[in-house]
Amino acid sequence: MVFHLNTKNQTDDSMITKQSRVVILTGAGISAESGIRTFRDSDGLWENHRIEEVATPEGWRANPELVWNFYQQRRRQLLNVEPNQGHLALEELENHLENFLLVTQNVDDLHERAGSKNLIHMHGELAKLRCEDCQLVETLMEDQHLLDAFLYCRQCDGRLRPHIVWFNEMPMQMPEIEKALSECDVFVAIGTSGHVYPAANFLHIARNHGAYTIGINLEPPENVHFFDEFIQGKAAEILPYLVQKWIHD
Ligand code: APR
Repeated sequence: MVFHLNTKNQTDDSMITKQSRVVILTGAGISAESGIRTFRDSDGLWENHRIEEVATPEGWRANPELVWNFYQQRRRQLLNVEPNQGHLALEELENHLENFLLVTQNVDDLHERAGSKNLIHMHGELAKLRCEDCQLVETLMEDQHLLDAFLYCRQCDGRLRPHIVWFNEMPMQMPEIEKALSECDVFVAIGTSGHVYPAANFLHIARNHGAYTIGINLEPPENVHFFDEFIQGKAAEILPYLVQKWIHD
């Protein structure tokens, strides 16, 4: 493995060309510099709640008011944050490549607001709500959708829940993601601790199919030794530099 503490030490040739098939996985670290807190910063507590309380179907059944208010706060926060240089750099990379897939574990909308197009939100999206009964999914981000009161489906009157993949639920679009991972030339994981499966396994799927693997993170993640190359630092600082290098090499 090549380990860079910063990008200035890099001497090897770029592994990404215009024809490379590239899959990028992002986690909370890419949105950190936009002001959205990562999950595992403080003893498994997420904004002072235990994850099981606010991020499981059991938590929703036990106390829907608490869970609803928690996600309504996260949804309102989207109005006050902006994409950072890391999100923007990935949009520039996508425009340069012929075969690119961005998979994010993040539920914020900062990648799409930065202009990313071929994007999968494997853990769902804060901006959307889903009917518990008929499963209708809609983007609902007007003022009247961001209050504390529950909302109900315009189609069948069922209660709406966050369109979020909670623990013990199936991540979205997995067959599509696995296909791209098994066909890619380069896999890059950015700002993710590598604790949560199945995303933590994407590195191994790509690697087992022969992809070159790059990790970018503030701290070396648990799976750091499986990357061909690891670059330590802040995504918003490193990515603009790296993407320029990949595009122009
Ligand atoms: N740049 C790059 N990496 C950063 C930055 C930054 N500015 N700030 C923090 N990090 C790194 C941290 O060092 C940490 O390793 O980002 C990682 C974030 O890890 P987590 O908080 O565990 O977030 P993530 O890996 O996205 O979590 C995965 O867990 O709770 C669930 O569903 C939730 O999607 C989430 C999943």
